Amino acid sequence: MFKDALTIIRERKSVRGYTGEPVSKEDIDKLLRAAMAAPAAMHMPPWRFIVVTDKARLKALTDGLPFAKMLVEAGTGIVVCAVPQEAAMGSEDFAILGCACASENILLAAEALGLGAVWTAVFPRQELMDFVRNELNIPGDIIPLNIIPVGHSAGEEKTQDKYDEKNIHWEKW
Ligand SMILES: Cc1cc2nc3c(=O)[nH]c(=O)nc-3n(C[C@H](O)[C@H](O)[C@H](O)COP(=O)(O)O)c2cc1C
Repeated sequence: MFKDALTIIRERKSVRGYTGEPVSKEDIDKLLRAAMAAPAAMHMPPWRFIVVTDKARLKALTDGLPFAKMLVEAGTGIVVCAVPQEAAMGSEDFAILGCACASENILLAAEALGLGAVWTAVFPRQELMDFVRNELNIPGDIIPLNIIPVGHSAGEEKTQDKYDEKNIHWEKW
């Protein structure tokens, strides 16, 4: 069923339970294209993406990432990596901001494709960044921001309505 963009944004949810059915190459390609459509400061894309589908490698990642245990069942993990030297002004902050935008695009594209996904944290925890760099041969000047498990949802999660008027100011704080 076709869903418009605002419905997809509203319905996106973190998915932590998966059926184990693999994600197709075609869908992974769509997710990566969505990621690279994200905005980036001064039009300088600051990202790389590592797609992990090997079960043993996914399992090895979960051994050091306590909040990403769902990676194996999801079957695909996309590691979003920030490249400060390619970002606007060589800025680590701009690199991370651009990669956060790319990550959200992946989460939204997954929802649009009827897949489940969730941001699992790596940055800013130094020990997690070191662990992921070591597992995936990521150079020391590259920042692994997160790992996004992607898979077919087991259907357990519901969208939360987080709209709250108290967060809104008009004209001035
Ligand atoms: C920076 C960041 C780090 C997160 N880290 C984790 C994580 O390590 N593991 C996890 O299961 N979810 C993680 N999440 C997902 C949040 O828990 C989730 O977005 C939040 O509970 C709201 O739920 P929703 O995404 O379904 O709206 C993270 C989200 C963000 C933005």
